[in-house]
Amino acid sequence: MNDNTPSPFKLNPKGPATLPTNVWAIGGGKGGIGKSFISSSLAICLTKMGKSVTLIDLDLGSANLHTVLGVKIPPQTLSDFISGRAQSLNQVSAPTEIPGLQFISGFNDALNIADIDRDNKARLIHGIRQIQTPYVILDLGAGTSENTLDFFLSADQKVVAVTPEPTSIENAYRFMKSSFYRKLRLAESELGLQSLIESAMDSRNQLGIRSPADLVRYVSQHNPEAGQRFQERIGDFQLQLLLNQVRTRQDIELGHSMKSVCRKYFGIDANYLGYIDHDNAVWQSLRKRRPLVIEYPYSSIVGQFLQITKNLLNPQALRAVI
Ligand SMILES: Nc1ncnc2c1ncn2[C@@H]1O[C@H](COP(=O)(O)OP(=O)(O)O)[C@@H](O)[C@H]1O
Ligand SMILES: [Mg+2]
Repeated sequence: MNDNTPSPFKLNPKGPATLPTNVWAIGGGKGGIGKSFISSSLAICLTKMGKSVTLIDLDLGSANLHTVLGVKIPPQTLSDFISGRAQSLNQVSAPTEIPGLQFISGFNDALNIADIDRDNKARLIHGIRQIQTPYVILDLGAGTSENTLDFFLSADQKVVAVTPEPTSIENAYRFMKSSFYRKLRLAESELGLQSLIESAMDSRNQLGIRSPADLVRYVSQHNPEAGQRFQERIGDFQLQLLLNQVRTRQDIELGHSMKSVCRKYFGIDANYLGYIDHDNAVWQSLRKRRPLVIEYPYSSIVGQFLQITKNLLNPQALRAVI
């Protein structure tokens, strides 16, 4: 079964009677490309479709999702959970004025993403699955730190945001590649393939391994049985590309070309989820501290977000179209 499939049969810590939490993560490697704007817009679109959502600011160190949402910093934030003052994420989750939308702030100038140790990361990933809303959206920070990649990999829907600028495209490829290598590393330690992979990944190797696809091929050639298990463990790695700040037709095409580059050079499966126009209404609504989806509900950009939300709710249909 594809890991992205929201299935009532998935293991769920809340017990078999409840539907599993569906987690969407918004990453992309670069800052300032619209991850927080996208996270909040997708969350509000879900509430418009009658779904309850919790939005979590995981851009620790630069948490500013409260400003994008136009809400006050709640009395308790992720720091209370990480320090142990709060036992569950539900305790630090605050209601917003938007019906159906809960918010968990990451605000704390002294807390950085790198400060979360392994135990707390595991607690956080486990805690996210126990959140009481059926949908959870993670707004990730920039960069490819191990913690950011692990939160990204823990999600059911892994959205990579990119804008049509060379720096953003470069960082998006780096982010996708890093998250795939991280996924390989997690699989290799579970399957006991470390030494095989370490020799293959040695930068002085003459094996011509330049991409994740090369690596999987190498493992399969040297140990077909392990190669197959390796394939199975990483086979559910499915990315969702979202192009933001589109201005021309040529920009729109970028999503298709990135999708083929991912397949051809990295062996990574990526869907092209759709695109969002560049629109001055975005900063205008930000300045007013009113989310764009609320302020301009009938704008074309909100129509684009609603379509992308539907695509994320039904990725199988999307795969058939693009
Ligand atoms: N589609 C868009 N059109 C116009 N401006 C945008 C768009 N998306 C994002 N922006 C602007 O880009 C800036 C960065 O957005 P933000 O969501 O904070 O990025 P990130 O979370 O990736 O750092 C904001 O000023 C926002 O108004
Ligand atoms: Mg942000």
